[in-house]
Amino acid sequence: MPSLPEETDTEPSASAPASTASAFGRDVLAGLARRPRRIPAKYFYDERGSRLFDAITRLDAYYPTRTERQILLDHGDEMVEAIGKNAALVEYGSGSSEKTRILLDALHARRTLAAYVPIDISAAFLEQSAEALRGAYPGLPVLPVAADYTRAFDLPDLPAETSRVVVFFPGSTIGNFTPDEARGFLRHAAEVAGDDGALLIGVDQWKDAAVLRRAYDDPEGVTAAFNLNVLRRINRELDGDADLDAWAHEVRLGERPHRVEMHLRSREAQTLTVLGHAFRFEAGETIHTEDSHKFGPDGLAALAQEAGLVRRKRWTDPRGWFAVELYETRGGAPR
Ligand code: AVJ
Repeated sequence: MPSLPEETDTEPSASAPASTASAFGRDVLAGLARRPRRIPAKYFYDERGSRLFDAITRLDAYYPTRTERQILLDHGDEMVEAIGKNAALVEYGSGSSEKTRILLDALHARRTLAAYVPIDISAAFLEQSAEALRGAYPGLPVLPVAADYTRAFDLPDLPAETSRVVVFFPGSTIGNFTPDEARGFLRHAAEVAGDDGALLIGVDQWKDAAVLRRAYDDPEGVTAAFNLNVLRRINRELDGDADLDAWAHEVRLGERPHRVEMHLRSREAQTLTVLGHAFRFEAGETIHTEDSHKFGPDGLAALAQEAGLVRRKRWTDPRGWFAVELYETRGGAPR
């Protein structure tokens, strides 16, 4: 650790370097200056972070991916039925579209899909997986859009026979949002889906605390590496000087609202410098890096209702650990 004279944090000002920094830089400086200190969870996902998340999804301890996959496999036919004929499936944060293939298999087998529109922030990755999907589903229009789905974006021109837009948002990523952000997101998704549109969404459920803790603090330490990776990214991209051995992965279970929190705990008194700004940490102080909200059986339906979305279907695994739910915009007729 460099020895710096500052006793207190240097607040990021409106002047350089904060104003010239990337969104990542600005958010990190602002997040470290406030109390409680916080770094938005979306910054986990640089290339290494995405690879680590991928490894998490294959862990024995991490139940969500596996459970959602099984729900899609077990109930795909009913989902196809509920989605209806000639829908355009718009997937948010498609990544490698691995899970989607289960749904696409079911939909394409009946030739009932008008188009598949994967949306992802990473353009290069998107084109690559779009090519692979065109190969796997001949005749299916694959129309990728490189965009941040939490902001306004335009849908591509859809085939003339398109009957409705169905937004697919798997993985319980909605759990990363605060309840307010989730409401905003749902309102936006409802707008994108439009009249008679639908939202098919994966949502993680309340469950035994020990199961949750193990999923977010796995014995192999992959989640710890994933959490610590954001410091590595700060070192590389924001000229940071974090000593990774001086920070620990910490999981806290919130009671109400039900959520899993991830923090980075300073193992000792230290100074962390980012883009020339020094932040003083006491031993044991933490940076809050992620909330992963878990929902009761009707929790998401209540939020969605405020956004003008009505739940039509709900599929779950035998233990009720995860759910895939279908919502329709209010104009949508019951089917
Ligand atoms: C991608 C947001 C669904 O909250 O379970 C996994 C991210 N964080 N392990 C989750 C995550 C720690 C994941 N989501």
